[in-house]
Amino acid sequence: MELVEEMQTYYGKRAPVYDNSMGYDDHGTVKSLEPVIKRIRGLLDGRKILEIACGPCFWTQRVSEVAESILATDFNDSTLDQARRKNLDWDKVALQCADAYDLSRVQGVFDAALAVDWFAHVPRSRFHEFLRGLHGRLQAGSIVVLCDQSPGVESLSGMYDQEGNHLQTRDLPDGSKCRVIKNFLSELEFKELFARYSSHVEIASYPECRRIVVSYTLKT
Ligand SMILES: C[S@@+](CC[C@H](N)C(=O)[O-])C[C@H]1O[C@@H](n2cnc3c(N)ncnc32)[C@H](O)[C@@H]1O
Repeated sequence: MELVEEMQTYYGKRAPVYDNSMGYDDHGTVKSLEPVIKRIRGLLDGRKILEIACGPCFWTQRVSEVAESILATDFNDSTLDQARRKNLDWDKVALQCADAYDLSRVQGVFDAALAVDWFAHVPRSRFHEFLRGLHGRLQAGSIVVLCDQSPGVESLSGMYDQEGNHLQTRDLPDGSKCRVIKNFLSELEFKELFARYSSHVEIASYPECRRIVVSYTLKT
């Protein structure tokens, strides 16, 4: 199986245990993420947001409190199914299955995009394909917010594929294993990558909870 499809399968199966495995149902973990949540909410206050790879909507729920609206999308309906069980603000939040690499069926007007723990999974060879597709759904001058994990010693496998993607092997509850791409880009790499789309790229790092928030405003 190609890596992109393998990741889709992996997260489809992981959906029922995803929040628990991330510590999103643990008070201490959520508290440690508060500065990150505050940063993302500040960037997206009052926005009409297109969210990519929303998973069971942990971040959607927190951002929806300040957003005007969020269309939260994910490839896997199993992850959206977890979100449907939550007490989200359904006046503001809508869910849709969508492939991040093909957003052609996404309807709506958006002035912001959000993706948490997604960009690290995008193969290097598809960075600009994904970004062009995303930007094509946004109004000029929109803000794009990406939040990813920064590496810990245990997360660096030392395995790379031919195009330089960092690979990890993950276990599923049924005992099967899947390979995922988990790239950890440096601040310089992020800045160089987004320079062609924006003259305003900001990076905020949260080493205490191993998070980075990258945001940029699309050229008008
Ligand atoms: C690491 S999880 C992040 C979930 C959520 N953003 C969060 O932080 O809680 C990655 C998500 O990407 C989704 N995904 C995988 N491949 C995708 C694709 N091609 N298009 C859209 N979503 C995809 C998975 O279903 C999964 O929910």
